[in-house]
Amino acid sequence: MAESSSDLRRRRWWRSATTRVLAGVASVAATATVLVTAPGADAAASTLGAAAAQSGRYFGTAIAAGRLSNSAYTTIAAREFNMVTPENEMKPDATEPNQNQFNFSSGDQIYNWAVSHGSRVRGHTLAWHAQQPGWMQNMGGSNLRNAMINHIQKVMAHYQGKLAYWDVVNEAFNEDGSRRQSNLQSTGNDWIEVAFRTARAADPSTKLCYNDYNIDNWSYGKTQGVYRMVQDFKSRGVPIDCVGLQAHFTGGSSVPGNFQQTISSFAALGVDVALTEVDVTNANTSQYSALTQACMNVARCVGITVWGVRDSDSWRSSESPLLFDGNGNKKAAYNSVLNALNAAGPGPTTTPTTPTTTPTDTTTPTTTPTTPGGGGCTATLSAGQSWGDRYNLNVSVSGSSSWTVTMNVPSPARISTTWNINASWPSSQVLIAKPNGSGNNWGVTIMANGNWNWPSVSCSA
Ligand code: G3I
Repeated sequence: MAESSSDLRRRRWWRSATTRVLAGVASVAATATVLVTAPGADAAASTLGAAAAQSGRYFGTAIAAGRLSNSAYTTIAAREFNMVTPENEMKPDATEPNQNQFNFSSGDQIYNWAVSHGSRVRGHTLAWHAQQPGWMQNMGGSNLRNAMINHIQKVMAHYQGKLAYWDVVNEAFNEDGSRRQSNLQSTGNDWIEVAFRTARAADPSTKLCYNDYNIDNWSYGKTQGVYRMVQDFKSRGVPIDCVGLQAHFTGGSSVPGNFQQTISSFAALGVDVALTEVDVTNANTSQYSALTQACMNVARCVGITVWGVRDSDSWRSSESPLLFDGNGNKKAAYNSVLNALNAAGPGPTTTPTTPTTTPTDTTTPTTTPTTPGGGGCTATLSAGQSWGDRYNLNVSVSGSSSWTVTMNVPSPARISTTWNINASWPSSQVLIAKPNGSGNNWGVTIMANGNWNWPSVSCSA
């Protein structure tokens, strides 16, 4: 699609804003005598995650716990992606194998791997007709309804404050736009909204998504069915924040000509849209390019996740549908996606009229003095490693060994992970840190989301 003059203006604005922001970041780094690297304003980013981050988006992959011991796999995954979806490990059969007995070992393994590489995590999935544990498959009526509610509450409590998105409900529609028959559907047509209301109460800090396949073509019955449900939820205040288009262009389907219309139509309902499980038969370059461009053309299309790292990791490996071949080499489609990401205009958190950063903002001091209120200790910040979309801060507390540090992160930045502390989260922008026996030096990874200002901290002992 040809770039319009307004698109070009937006892109130029974005490049110049990025220049100013990065100049500020560099001066902060110099003050702290710590080198902070970030892609140059006009230099194209060289990884998928960094390229997507330039427009406030992410680029993710599905990760399988069983492959985390394969260094060829983890090298690519750590380098290229900044969002991770557990391929199977957070599904109901994995997390609740026996009723009310939970097992988070594989899910946690992926979560810990992801955050230790500066990546965020999409939870997948809480309520689904498939991959139910045996005990659930045989249930119905109010027993199943209560079991679903309990499952959502317990699993979300375990990951409270940690996940960027949760696929609350997965694949609940038929191809004609009616509801899919399942044991969950048989508990009553309101099961989906009950799932979303339960999810919001369980973890208000995460975004709640409906996720499905074959909802890519705007004129298709299933797309319209899901659209009507989201429209209805928004009009009645049922909490829903996002729609995931799985975008499996394998098994005989391909990117429809009206794909962007589908994305923008969902976005116009006031939800984030994401492409959540992308794969394309034989990694067709023009289809990969088109689907990426369609997302980039809609400000509220927040990110793209491919369903696996290398072709050999794919659930449809015989169709070679991913961006890396079995030997870990970048395929032609990789470059078409990277180029589209690098050329993107402002995304979800970056608009020309309301820039989220200014050059002066980045002069936030690198050290913070003793707190107002409380006091008795000092929390000092210093720069850690930095990437195109996120940065680490090291925190050193002095004056007491029994302290409480409150950190306020400037919106829309978010803390994505912490280390060496007991953390609690009054909200997604506020962290309360206490010692966990690891001493007085700890840290955080902050997803900038376009705002590179450092957080404020206060310390009391
Ligand atoms: O781990 C066991 C292994 O121990 C056993 O020997 C083997 C024998 O069949 O099965 C292995 O489990 C398989 C699992 O993948 C891990 O490889 C399951 O049988 C198999 O059913 C499962 O398939 C997953 C599928 O969901 C199940 O519905 C795929 O990996 C996963 O990619 C796929 O993901 C779904 C999304 O969640 C929702 N959208 C569609 C997408 C593709 O089907």
